[in-house]
Amino acid sequence: MATNRTFTMLKPDSVEKGNTGAILEKINSAGFRIIAMKLTQMSIDEARNFYSIHKERPFFNDLVSYMTRGPIVAAVLEKEDAVNEFRTLIGSTDPTAAAEGTIRNLFASSISENAIHGSDSDENALIESRFHFSEEEMF
Ligand code: RTP
Ligand code: MG
Repeated sequence: MATNRTFTMLKPDSVEKGNTGAILEKINSAGFRIIAMKLTQMSIDEARNFYSIHKERPFFNDLVSYMTRGPIVAAVLEKEDAVNEFRTLIGSTDPTAAAEGTIRNLFASSISENAIHGSDSDENALIESRFHFSEEEMF
């Protein structure tokens, strides 16, 4: 996969609040092309695996509960410098620190329930995309 791709999840709070359409509109308006997308729900094992880098952190169990409590929208996105551009679009982890107009500023309720995930490197974008999609599902 090219390095102009990133991976995102619209987290369970975004689906519960009916915010997926508004968030996808922001993503499209920012010039990202959708390469793959689906509504899916992670199992506890999958979420523990996906966020294994955080397994020693105090918030790990809460993070796994949150990410598995309902469906998410998983997607692979394409744009020049996609990882960095997308992290800028979503804003800081803590919505109170997220820049005005960013997705977390607009849609996140707290540092724990922060609406959306964005890969933090090209390497992780590839790993995370393959976690959720087969090569045949990526266009
Ligand atoms: P993400 O991986 O979901 O895109 O978020 P991120 O890079 O901005 O933040 P990261 O440090 O990777 O944390 C992963 C997710 O764990 C939850 N979290 N809760 N209660 C807390 O202090 C806390 N800190 C992080 C958030 O859902 C965060 O996005
Ligand atoms: Mg992260």
